[in-house]
Amino acid sequence: MPESTPNAAQSKTHHDVELQINGQSYWVNVPSRRTLLDLLRDQLHLTGTKKVCDMGQCGACTVLRDGVPILSCLTLAVACDGSHVQTIEGVAGADGQLSPLQEAFIEFDGLQCGFCTPGQVMAAIALLTDNPHPTEDEIKYHMVGNLCRCGAYKGIVEAIQHAAEQMAERKQ
Ligand code: FES
Ligand code: FES
Repeated sequence: MPESTPNAAQSKTHHDVELQINGQSYWVNVPSRRTLLDLLRDQLHLTGTKKVCDMGQCGACTVLRDGVPILSCLTLAVACDGSHVQTIEGVAGADGQLSPLQEAFIEFDGLQCGFCTPGQVMAAIALLTDNPHPTEDEIKYHMVGNLCRCGAYKGIVEAIQHAAEQMAERKQ
C-alpha cells in the first residue's frame, strides 16, 4: 500500500472542475461537499447570487445551468463539471447596459431590499426564454419558488409582463 500523504488524502476530498460561467472558463479545485453557491460566492467572489435560506426554500440563489434554473444552494459544485452557468453578473451587456428585464424590475418597483432580486431575474429569464408571451397566471406559477420578503410580487409580475412586451417589440 502506498503511504498516504496529505496530497493523496486531499485528492479524495477535492475535485478538479471545469465550468463556463457567464461565458468565461474556470478550472477550480473544490471540496466534494462544496455547493455551487459557495463556489460562486466564496471561491470565485461572484457575490451577486445571494444566500438566504441555504436550504432550497426561497429561490434567492437561483442561477441557470445549461439554461435551466437551479437552486445553487442545493447543487454540488462537482455536479456542475462541464456545465455552462449564468449568474446575475452575466445578465447585463458587456458595456454595463442593463437587460430589458432588469430595467423593468426598476421601472415597476419589482424590488425593495433587492436581496431576492438576482434569483427573481434569473428565474424570469428562464421563463421568457421558454415562453416569450406568458400570461399573468403563467408568470405567477413559474415564479412561485422565488420568495420576496418585501412583498414586491405585484411589481415583479408587472416587470416580467413589461419586459416580455419590450423584448417582443425589439424582435420585430
Ligand atoms: Fe437557495 Fe434559499 S438560498 S433556496
Ligand atoms: Fe426584498 Fe424581495 S425585494 S426580499
